[in-house]
Amino acid sequence: MSPTKTIIVSVTAAIIFVLVQGQGPIEPNCLGCICEASTQCNVSVGCHTPYAGAYFCGPFLISWAYWADAGKPVIQNDDPNRQGAFENCVNDLYCAAETVRQYMAKFASDCTGEGVINCEDIVRVHKIGYSSCNANVDSSDAFWQSYRTCAARVNVN
Ligand SMILES: *[C@@H]1O[C@H](CO)[C@@H](O)[C@H](O)[C@H]1NC(C)=O
Repeated sequence: MSPTKTIIVSVTAAIIFVLVQGQGPIEPNCLGCICEASTQCNVSVGCHTPYAGAYFCGPFLISWAYWADAGKPVIQNDDPNRQGAFENCVNDLYCAAETVRQYMAKFASDCTGEGVINCEDIVRVHKIGYSSCNANVDSSDAFWQSYRTCAARVNVN
């Protein structure tokens, strides 16, 4: 195994250890792969404005609207209406994962029409949004390539 792969595998293991503690229907490995595809699960990425009006933060690249739709989860003792509560949550691995869980509890759907909600559906809702999650995706895009590699490695679909 190459050193890079060793690092990725151990990062994923650490992530999964964190993610497995939460509740909900999303497989920890699925959350791990969304995190990896978004930022290689880098908890230090901070916030970015990739284009006007867009603002994404943390290892899952979560927007303010996504966090608000999820119900504004916060790190312990924080106030959801405090300026900075969003950034503090979504830059924290556990709170970010909780945001994805709560968002999916509301908005996960069977995007691909296979009769089950699996990780492919969850990642589509995460990346494309719930309203158009059956859209064609560009498989050559770095996000989707990274997601598919991860999903195959940890055996989620
Ligand atoms: C994580 O992101 C930070 C900020 O962009 C960067 O400096 C750092 O090198 C990244 N870490 C890894 C492991 O890629």
